[in-house]
Amino acid sequence: MTAEAITVLGLGNLGRALAETFVRGGHPVAVWNRSEGKAAGLAATVAASAAEAVAAGDLVVVALLDHQAAQQVLRDVDVRGKALVNLTSGTPDDARELAAWAEAQGAGYLHGAVYAVPQTIGTGASSIIYSGSEPVSARKSLALLGKVTYLGADAGRASGYDVAILAGMYGLLGGFLHAAALARANGIGVAELTPLLASWLTDLQPALTTFAAEIDASSYGNGESSLAMNQSGLATLIRAAQAQGVPFAGLDAVKALVDRQVDSGRGQESLARAVESFGPVSQGLAGGQDEDRH
Ligand SMILES: NC(=O)c1ccc[n+]([C@@H]2O[C@H](COP(=O)([O-])OP(=O)(O)OC[C@H]3O[C@@H](n4cnc5c(N)ncnc54)[C@H](OP(=O)(O)O)[C@@H]3O)[C@@H](O)[C@H]2O)c1
Repeated sequence: MTAEAITVLGLGNLGRALAETFVRGGHPVAVWNRSEGKAAGLAATVAASAAEAVAAGDLVVVALLDHQAAQQVLRDVDVRGKALVNLTSGTPDDARELAAWAEAQGAGYLHGAVYAVPQTIGTGASSIIYSGSEPVSARKSLALLGKVTYLGADAGRASGYDVAILAGMYGLLGGFLHAAALARANGIGVAELTPLLASWLTDLQPALTTFAAEIDASSYGNGESSLAMNQSGLATLIRAAQAQGVPFAGLDAVKALVDRQVDSGRGQESLARAVESFGPVSQGLAGGQDEDRH
């Protein structure tokens, strides 16, 4: 059986790693990049235009800077009969917009969110979640890139996971940076602090599972980690940070979420209830089964 012909649009850090992995996997690969020279040393056909590159492939993988770039590049290209796999970061609505466009053009569309750095693409440390219309058969070559998780036919669902996961990641990174500033203000080396911090964060993981179940059920028991207790802890932490000259608006924002629930008489309920301070949920839990592939 001949290997599927694959096109990669965009040879930035990610696109280059994707193209190299498909080449290593024995696929004929056509590539296109806006500026020249990015394909040097790559055993792929270098196309003069995005349209020419797309014509050469059955599976078309898009790895451009952002949604706007993907729209610009795809707009004038004939994608009829192609399987588009867009790994460009964007919002759920961006993905749904491109999926609707692809469907109108007669193309399949799969949107992906990459949990890897370019160096780990094609290794066990790479994981990509996908959702969209594209049938399973077209995804076989995607297993070369890393672990594949398919999240259903709604093209926006993978991005829905992605923005939530990235929000969690930046919350954690913001917290780490503030912890580092507090440590420095107290004459503590950040490298000295980090093992203890990482150990505590690891120990906290089961609490996230408990909170998640409470939030999905909208049922907040009188947990060990009550809103009132956390309100007091946050106030102390905010005072300490101010006294040490490193206040952090992120902490004030978390306390404001907690305050709103305590003010409405819910102080003895679980900290997880603070999610309700973000306002009413506009969409219920979407259906669809997750399908893991290794
Ligand atoms: N790198 C990662 O670790 C990683 C991980 C997960 C997700 N992602 C996502 O993957 C996507 C690509 O990331 P990257 O790291 O490869 O970015 P990058 O190295 O900055 O490359 C960006 C690519 O987009 C092209 N581009 C930018 N604007 C364009 C336009 N208006 N028209 C045509 N081409 C345009 C660039 O072309 P030129 O070469 O001509 O500038 C280049 O090929 C992003 O959405 C990123 O969020 C990246």
